[in-house]
Amino acid sequence: MIARACALTAASVAAFALSATLACGQDDAALVTQGKRLFTEQGCYGCHAIGKTGTPIANDLTRVGSKYPESYLRGWLREPQAQKPGAHMLKIQMSELDARALAAYLASLK
Ligand code: HEC
Repeated sequence: MIARACALTAASVAAFALSATLACGQDDAALVTQGKRLFTEQGCYGCHAIGKTGTPIANDLTRVGSKYPESYLRGWLREPQAQKPGAHMLKIQMSELDARALAAYLASLK
């Protein structure tokens, strides 16, 4: 878990003040918390619901963490078409760090 967070490049660490804490901080929970915030900030809730929050237009993500591993979720967020050709979700622009945080959050939903 910690090794994954530490795999961030020096460039991305320099780019995001917060990532300095996340990149090699021992706190995986911080990544999950950030992902939870991004779910709202990135507008994911406009199409997806988690529990009672959000809009159930697309797949309900309440238990998405038991459906896919974190690596798949991260790949999905970076490039939906690469994970599933013909995917009906648009590619949302976000930093690698944001994708990691969102994937960590989604993977925690079991
Ligand atoms: C404009 C609507 C829309 C927005 C905004 C959106 N999604 Fe999606 N998402 C979809 C649709 C539609 C699918 C189903 C795609 C398919 O299977 O072809 C999907 C699928 C997914 C899946 C796979 C679910 C499964 O059970 O297979 C995940 C994970 C996901 N979205 C996460 C996110 C996250 C995180 C965000 C915010 C960064 C987001 N989505 C924003 C429409 C949206």
